[in-house]
Amino acid sequence: MVKKVEIYKEILVSEEELDKRLDELAEEITESYKNSEKELLVVGILRGAVIFMTNLVTRMDLDLTMDFMAVSSYGGSSVSSGVVRILKDLEEGIKDKDVLIVEDIIDTGLTLDYLIRNLKDRGANSIKIATLLDKPNRRKVNVDVDFVGFKIPDEFVVGYGLDYNQKYRNLPFIAALKEEVYS
Ligand code: PRP
Ligand code: MN
Ligand code: MG
Repeated sequence: MVKKVEIYKEILVSEEELDKRLDELAEEITESYKNSEKELLVVGILRGAVIFMTNLVTRMDLDLTMDFMAVSSYGGSSVSSGVVRILKDLEEGIKDKDVLIVEDIIDTGLTLDYLIRNLKDRGANSIKIATLLDKPNRRKVNVDVDFVGFKIPDEFVVGYGLDYNQKYRNLPFIAALKEEVYS
């Protein structure tokens, strides 16, 4: 077994920074929906978004329901293939609801671009995006993101939901992986 402490070279976002920023984001999101008369549905994108989503919704002072989708563009690789597949769809319809899509990271933008187009076709009242991390210099398609936790440089990052080969999601902070781990 490799200990998780041996795989990262640097902590990019600490536990304290995450805690503070999540409070701020939850407040921003609460403000933005508090006067809406529509039902709020928070959609987490499995599996990366799970840790961010759970820590975000528990700080939001709103009535909401939760659902999940699984889409895959990366597979076991560290680079995006650009091919998006739905592996698990929503359990319920979204017609007339306010939908908040929660992602851990926006990289090329291909996953979210696909998801937004797909969910728009289902007749939502509104669709907004909250992402913990944004890697703007990797973008291939433009995506309007409503709530961003942190902009980060083009490093391979793991932790707080983000994986490398399905591992290291349980790091309590965001760390940059050592090159030798993924090369
Ligand atoms: C990662 C990440 C985002 C997406 C971002 O998911 O969690 O969902 O890629 O990349 P993009 O902007 O280039 O589309 P991944 O496919 O690795 O699945 P996972 O969430 O299960 O790790
Ligand atoms: Mn993901
Ligand atoms: Mg992944």
